[in-house]
Formats: sequence, structure tokens, C-alpha cells
Amino acid sequence: MSAGAVGQAHPRLEGPEKVTGVARYAVEYPLDDVTYGWVVPAAAVRGRITRVDPDPALATPGVLAVLHHGNAPRLAPDVDSELYLLQEPLVHYRGQFIAVVVAESIEAAREGARLVRIDYDTEPHSTVLTADHPGLYQPERVNPGYPTDTAEGDFDAAFAAAEVRVDSTYRTPAYHNNPMEPHATTAQWHDGRLLVHDSNQGSTPVQATLSELFRIPRESIRVVNEHVGGGFGSKGYAKAAVVLAALAARHVERPVRLALTRQQLFGPIGYRTPTIQRVRLGADADGRIAAVCHDAISQTSQITEFAEQTAVYTRSMYAGPHRRTTHRLARLDVPTPFWMRAPGECPGAYALESAMDELAAACGIDPVELRIRNEPTVDPDQGQPFSSRNLVGCLTEGARRFGWAERNPRPCSRREGHWMIGTGVAGSSYPARARAAAATATALPGGDFLVRINAADIGTGARTALWQVAADALGVPPERVRIRVGDTDLPPAGVAGGSMGTSSWSWAVVRACQGLRDRIAHHTGELPADGLTVEADTRDEVRAQRPLARYGYGAQFAEVRVDADTGEVRVSRLLGVFAVGRIVNPTTARSQLIGGMTMGLSMALHEEGVLDERYGDWVNHDLATYHITACADVERIEAYWLPEEDPDLNPCGVKGIGEIGIVGTAAAIANAVRHATGVRVRDLPIRLDKLIGASPLA
Ligand code: MOS
Repeated sequence: MSAGAVGQAHPRLEGPEKVTGVARYAVEYPLDDVTYGWVVPAAAVRGRITRVDPDPALATPGVLAVLHHGNAPRLAPDVDSELYLLQEPLVHYRGQFIAVVVAESIEAAREGARLVRIDYDTEPHSTVLTADHPGLYQPERVNPGYPTDTAEGDFDAAFAAAEVRVDSTYRTPAYHNNPMEPHATTAQWHDGRLLVHDSNQGSTPVQATLSELFRIPRESIRVVNEHVGGGFGSKGYAKAAVVLAALAARHVERPVRLALTRQQLFGPIGYRTPTIQRVRLGADADGRIAAVCHDAISQTSQITEFAEQTAVYTRSMYAGPHRRTTHRLARLDVPTPFWMRAPGECPGAYALESAMDELAAACGIDPVELRIRNEPTVDPDQGQPFSSRNLVGCLTEGARRFGWAERNPRPCSRREGHWMIGTGVAGSSYPARARAAAATATALPGGDFLVRINAADIGTGARTALWQVAADALGVPPERVRIRVGDTDLPPAGVAGGSMGTSSWSWAVVRACQGLRDRIAHHTGELPADGLTVEADTRDEVRAQRPLARYGYGAQFAEVRVDADTGEVRVSRLLGVFAVGRIVNPTTARSQLIGGMTMGLSMALHEEGVLDERYGDWVNHDLATYHITACADVERIEAYWLPEEDPDLNPCGVKGIGEIGIVGTAAAIANAVRHATGVRVRDLPIRLDKLIGASPLA
């Protein structure tokens, strides 16, 4: 690849469209004859619908229809039980979408939804995750296909024999994704063909799921997601809104717009499962780990199994000959958890990186040094070599930039007025994966180029990064390249998820552009009127990758101050150093990394789904009561990256940066709070009531 656009800071290509309101989101496309859908949530927790009375709703002026299990168009039953919506009279959790009201106006639809009367036969339910829940079981695999449990050596014996032991249990609550744009869809049927404008992280897989659910060929479905206002995992696959909108549009034979409300995002779209994690570390007096065990408990629903890979992080992060990880699940009468912001790695790292801090304190070793001492030479899980691993580089560079050397390791050693000040560190990692994609590159008469791929830009800057990649692969200035993403009329590609968007898509873009260059080199004379097009598909290349351990790494540093009188915690500084392969666009990369770190701050101090145990529903289901870190909570935040050339990833050498920013951040903050106050908080969030009564702060 020629030197050029990759590595240059560039603002998002679609930035002006977004800030001037020209960019259209899923329910913003102008449309004649459009109607509006509004969902009706179940009031029962578990049971059976015995009667739906639509009459009061239908009597509302403007209401056109009330869809429910008794009258909705039929879906294929064997595709996805989560999406088998309005097909059965069963209620599996409170808030489940059991009817949709369609009306001429959004107001009428909302009013109609309020008036639909539903009766239930209810059954007893269980909604609270506990470490001794009688229903705990061992799932066959954990997401996205890892073994459930692993064991190496003899953990029990090594732990019992260890000079220094840590045995701690950490808890994280339910977390809710809140993209700015809610789950939202406009659906239209024309002559048996379905067109949806849908807010999702990948329209190719959404098209595939709709094809199966509605039993129509993929070619008869077009899914457009040109602009998406965030997803964070919750829009990783087809979800309720697109299915309900398509059902409703078929039923009323008119286009339907359906956007979930903010409140409806809390549960039915998926959320991060609460976790209960026991971590045990056994080491010698020098802090060399002999035994490590991570036992993770989380929940799933009655509808389908979602097994968060909470302990997987511990399998590969630090060395130690005797190791064990386990995952157990409880099937509760709650909505199904789903992907959210580094699923697995994020909560898992909170536990392991907190336990590492406890081990450092128990051994009297600096926590940066402790991590360096336990650096593995090969992946401790599979024994594979790393394609590249620069955790130590991140730790040392982070320590230098942060001024770690000046730290007095003794807790409660720094005080300014009523503020107790402390610092903490945590490691961070996230898998560097890629999946197959297709792309086309076209040389147009007149000298411009068009690159097409059904990537999804969910606000990350993916479109801009691919444009930069394409320009270099074509060997032309980026001004001559146009890029199109976000439409199933484009060559198929996978989701913006698992931090593998850019790695996967850039691979296909590079191959298409290289192919086009070859083609042009052999072409003589004028270009044809519709240009010269080359298509590339990376399926074979991706499948042929060498079996290596591929991960991005990071080191997270935090400084906090805690009010000695009130327990208020402020994060005065967050600093992350990452080794994540090549950075395509420093502007958008920095935004991804500090965005992830901010989410980690949010996890450490603010976010908490508070369960109403009677209903298995969350009490705080809006942004007034579900607290999320705001700009005013972020004081100083810095993200840096190490130069890293890894030839064993993909043609662009990128590792993925969407998720690693959140991994480890909450632990760094919790470790800093411990350093400031002497109080170790093992259940997030770190609320002031957990600090203020605790010795030695009290
Ligand atoms: Mo990410 S939680 O894989 O969208």
C-alpha cells in the first residue's frame, strides 16, 4: 500500500450532512401515505394472554389496526425465538412486545396502545440472579462460541500451596444500551418485496434474518442503514423493531414507521447481564502467579440462551501454569441479555484487573510491575503464539506519560483539603478478529473511483476510514474516491460489531482496489460508459488465516479524588495507551478510544439497572434515572497508541478499536478509589454510600 491517506487525521465524510440535518435516519425518510406503529408491552411477568380487546383502541380516531398473536401475519417458527413476535399468546418477561397499534399519526398510535386491553393467566416467576440460584446450569458454549469451562494444571493444589492468595467476588449490575437513535424502522411492502430503512449494525445479516422469518428470498428484501445513531451491540442483529414494522406494514398494506421509546430500550432490546464473579489468584511472594481461577455467573431468559463470555478474558491475559475458568447461567423470567460494549471482556476485566490490584497490594509490589512480571510468552489458553502483543509497552508508556513513578503506593497517602486522591492502573485487551466481506471498486470515466461495500457506519467513522484505505489501495488522492456503505444493494458484508468492522471491510476494499488496479493496467483505450468494476470476496483468505492469538492491548490509568466527608468520587484523569495495530484515522480513532474509556467511567461510577424484583423489570428506565456519564463528569481524558506493525492480521494491519477503550477502565478507577481511600469496592457502581460508611474512610 502506498503511503498516503491511511494514518492521516480526517473528519467524518458525512459530518456536514449530520450537523445540518441532511443525513437521514431510519424513520426520517420522507414518505407518502406513511403510518405509525406503537408497541404494547406486557404487564405480566410470566404467563399466557387470555384475551386481547382491541376495541377501545380501534375506537380512537386515526387508529387503523391492533396487531397481536391472534391476527398478525405468520412468521417462520424456527428462525429465532426472540424474533418470533406476535405469534403466540405467551409472556416470558414483563415488557415483552405483545401487540402493535398502527395509526395515521404517532399520537393516535400511542393513545391506541394505551387503550388496548389485555388479560393474562399468570404463573410464578424468578427474576433475581444469585450465586446460589437453584437453576444455575452449565451452558454448552459461551459467546461467540468459546468453550464454557477451561482447566489447565491443578488449580486447587497450586492455589492452596501459594504463598499469597486473593479470593474475591465482584459484582456488576445490569447495564442498558442507550444509542442516541433508538431501535427504529420504516417498512414498506411493494408487490411482495420488502424495503426497510432500519437502524442496525449490519444490514446484510438483517436482510438474511428477515428473509428467513418472512420466507421470501433475500433478493426481495432491501435493507438500508445509511446513517445509524449508535448501537453498542444492541443493534447487532435484526431486533424487534424491524420485525414488528414489517409485520405491521404487511397487515395494513401501507408503510409503517416504528421507533421504540427511550423507556422501551430498557430490557426488550437486550442489556448486559448482571454478573457475579469470583476470582482467585495464588502467587509467590514476588507476585509470580501460579494459580488463577475465574468463575462467572450470569443470567439468560426463558426465550433463548445468551451466555456472556465473562471469564474468557482471564484465559489469555496473564501467565500462570494452573488455571481454570467456568461460566454458569440462570434462566430467569427476564428479557434476554444481548451484546453490549465489549461483551464478556468488559465485565470480566473489571474483576480480573481488580484482583490483580489486590494481589499487588498483598505482595507489596507495584501493580504495573506485577502485570509485567506475569507477561506470558504464548497465549496461556491455547498455547498459540501471539501475532503481536504489546501490553508491556502500553504499561510502560502509560506509566511514563501518567507520571506513575511518583506514586506513593500507600493508600490514603495523598490529600488536598477534603479530597483524598488516588491513582490506579489496569490492563486491557480485546480480540482482533476479521470476518469475510465482499466489495467492488469501479473506475469511472472521468477519472474518479467508486467503492461499494455494505459496511455499517454506526457513528464510528467507518465510512471515512474505508475511504482512506481505498484511496491508498488505488494509489490515488482520496478526493477522487467515493465510498458507498449501508445498503443491501451493495456487496454483502458483516456487522459493525466485535471491533471487527474496519479489519473485515478494509480487507475486502483493499482486494477490490488492487484487483481494479491490475485490471486498469491491462486495459487499453477509453473506459466503458459504466466504468470498469472489479469485485473481491475475502472468504477464502479469511478462512486461511494462520492459527495465532490475535489481540489488541491497552493500559488504563486513572486518577480520582474522593470527598472525605461525602464520599463523592470525581475522576480527575483518565489515560489510556493502546497497541491496536495500525491506526487508519487518528481523529476517529481517538474518538472511539476516549468514547470507550468514558463508557468505562460510566460503568465505574454511574450506570446501574435497578431491578424491581417483583416484576423483573428495571425501576430506572429512562435517562433521568439511569445515570450515564456526562461531559461534566469527564475532566481530563487522553488516549495514545503505540506504533504497531502486525503483518499477520489483514492487509491494513488494523486490530479494531471499537471496544478496547472500555475494557479495564472501571477496574483502573476502582483501583484508584482503593488507593485514595483504602476502600475496595467490589460491586459496581462505586456509589458514595459504599464509601462513606466504610473504614478507613469513615
Ligand atoms: Mo459490539 S457489543 O460487538 O457491537
